[in-house]
Amino acid sequence: MSPTKSASDVADLGLAEAGDARIVWADAQMPVLRSIRERFARERPFEGLRVGVCLHVTTETANLARTLIAGGAEVALCAANPLDTQDDVAAALVERHGAVVHAIHGEDMATYYRHIEAVLDTRPQLTMDDGADLVSTLHASRPDALADVLGGTEETTSGVVRLRALEAAGQLGFPVVAVNDARTKRLFDNRYGTGQSALDGILRATNMLLAGRVVAVFGYGWCGQGIALRAKGAGAHVVVCEVDPVRALEAKLEGYEVLPSVAAAAKGDVLITATGNRDVVRREHYEAMRDDVVLCNAGHFDVECDLAALRELSWERRQVRPHVEQHVLADGRRINLLAEGRVVNLAAAEGNPAAVMDMSFANQALAAEHLVKTAGTLAPQVHGVPAELDEEVARLTLAALGVEIDVLTDGQKAYLTTWEQGT
Ligand SMILES: NC(=O)c1ccc[n+]([C@@H]2O[C@H](COP(=O)([O-])OP(=O)(O)OC[C@H]3O[C@@H](n4cnc5c(N)ncnc54)[C@H](O)[C@@H]3O)[C@@H](O)[C@H]2O)c1
Repeated sequence: MSPTKSASDVADLGLAEAGDARIVWADAQMPVLRSIRERFARERPFEGLRVGVCLHVTTETANLARTLIAGGAEVALCAANPLDTQDDVAAALVERHGAVVHAIHGEDMATYYRHIEAVLDTRPQLTMDDGADLVSTLHASRPDALADVLGGTEETTSGVVRLRALEAAGQLGFPVVAVNDARTKRLFDNRYGTGQSALDGILRATNMLLAGRVVAVFGYGWCGQGIALRAKGAGAHVVVCEVDPVRALEAKLEGYEVLPSVAAAAKGDVLITATGNRDVVRREHYEAMRDDVVLCNAGHFDVECDLAALRELSWERRQVRPHVEQHVLADGRRINLLAEGRVVNLAAAEGNPAAVMDMSFANQALAAEHLVKTAGTLAPQVHGVPAELDEEVARLTLAALGVEIDVLTDGQKAYLTTWEQGT
């Protein structure tokens, strides 16, 4: 048995062929990452470097792992959520691409954290996280290993929030690049990617018609904006709930109805949380909901709906379809919870489309290279993706799409840097 096979824990290596076919399909839609992979194969920026990766085990992540491996890295991968692993992809990564993988779809929380520990056992020198579970476990349980790590990257809003809290507490042990905050990440992956794939998850789970329905979106950040936009496009009446007055105003002027969350819960046929916050939907919301409502979450963690309160109110719970658990309340009202309140686009569908993950993971690959190039010089803080890398990803994506744009003339450049010219 090869060393990666014996070191891995996946559901079924026999799924490798099917997984590889899907990885290749996604790769065809990831031209930017592919061009970076070809360059990495020539330049080998990660020669012999141990990279610990905690990302959703999807076809797109597989192509990122291939890119790191092409650059000379030894990759150990675990999942960023117990329901996100595509077992065929995990098998293909081990069998065909030389990664060590610890991830099984539907693993319980003990196994989830055992798999994170297994990745940490490889003593990573570079970390890649989605939600900061790898880095927070490293800080909490292995402070001695922090010195091995030259840097890390973070994929999502909720992970960046946690890492900023770790930095504010003076405890962040190495520099981390907030890939989420790149313009070519959150404007596209969070907005258009999640906008499409969250609805995809709802449709695959329920096969419902959205036209004519009331869709309530909790949180009008990047993800919420995308979900609202696509729900409107599907013919739904969209209601938005916010706590940020500027974003609430944006939603109002975009043409959505803006309501307090209990009123929205009472009105919606479909309720979707995307706030990165906890207990956004709780007892008073469940008590207000209409019969047969669909409830789901597109935020990173499964804390956006208070599930303990829902269980307390439920007289009966039954699995009515894959990914649909129906909670029957005392008065007979039914609340259909999708994907156990976990991130619906990954748990009930396949996550964001490869074409947007191309930009996110191009940022990941370039941020990792940046950390290697600047090793020892960056402070142990949360850093942004350098603007030139962000713009390079946009330029490469435009080129792949066959879109040409103008450049500033010398006169325009001069005009934009003078103060003398006015009225
Ligand atoms: N499903 C996916 O594929 C995917 C992709 C990217 C990000 N995410 C996750 O989605 C979540 C949102 O990410 P984002 O980039 O949109 O973040 P964001 O910070 O841009 O937006 C979050 C919004 O929620 C609002 N909010 C916070 N608490 C609220 C409450 N109690 N009620 C109503 N609104 C509230 C905030 O004011 C903010 O406008 C995060 O957990 C992020 O990690 C998921």
